[in-house]
Amino acid sequence: MTRSFGDGDSKLLVLKGIDLDVRCGDITMLVGPSGCGKTTLISIIAGTLAADAGELVVFDNDLRKMRKSALTRFRAQNIGFIFQQFHLIPTLTCIENASVPLLIQGGSTRQAEKKARAMLERVGLGDHMKKRPAQLSGGQQQRVAIARALVHEPRLVICDEPTAALDAKNGRVVMELFEHVAKSPERAVIIVTHDNRIFQHANRIASMDDGAVFDVHDVDGSKPLPEHLTHIAHA
Ligand SMILES: Nc1ncnc2c1ncn2[C@@H]1O[C@H](COP(=O)(O)OP(=O)(O)OP(=O)(O)O)[C@@H](O)[C@H]1O
Ligand SMILES: [Mg+2]
Repeated sequence: MTRSFGDGDSKLLVLKGIDLDVRCGDITMLVGPSGCGKTTLISIIAGTLAADAGELVVFDNDLRKMRKSALTRFRAQNIGFIFQQFHLIPTLTCIENASVPLLIQGGSTRQAEKKARAMLERVGLGDHMKKRPAQLSGGQQQRVAIARALVHEPRLVICDEPTAALDAKNGRVVMELFEHVAKSPERAVIIVTHDNRIFQHANRIASMDDGAVFDVHDVDGSKPLPEHLTHIAHA
């Protein structure tokens, strides 16, 4: 799969032929230097950005052949996305933000807020339900974004640096949630990360550089990490 930005002399080929399989039941981590195309790739997988060429199959659906309305519906039902910049709605409280995916699916406000409350409690935000994003720390905002991405139990969870703004304890809580999500054989989790503290939670680590995936490592406690991954420092 390929993707470029701009045209003419300023055309920049950002994804130069990505070939990657993500397995259900797995946590797949995506690592690579800043600017190598990680966010571009996961935005294409999530259907929020189009690829220029290639094939993209998510749970047997060829997203590049889907009509826009079908794609929007498919995304709302099947994908939970945690953006690098969180993208919370500033005028809504935590519980309202976390309810959004369920409301989009047509659920009642009462039911949606009940599930959103339970998810916010799981990420340790039980005391902050009624606050708006501006009243929260970066790590708290990130946990609201995580609760919103998981509340509708999507089959594919995609997160851009989920633990970057979290301390060790909250990072562990969040990774346990992702592990819980991925344990199901019908589900998959993709995590972009620079944080080597969470590599132990991965089943596979795909390494990118300069618009391509150059290594896919199956994590196995008895095997050492490949050399290039041991150089990645703490986030
Ligand atoms: N909308 C855009 N228009 C033009 N160029 C873009 C756009 N989005 C990304 N790029 C360029 O594409 C390249 C890859 O960007 P991307 O955001 O995918 O990198 P990344 O691997 O996620 O980096 P980071 O680790 O810093 O988040 C960069 O050179 C970036 O400047
Ligand atoms: Mg990025």
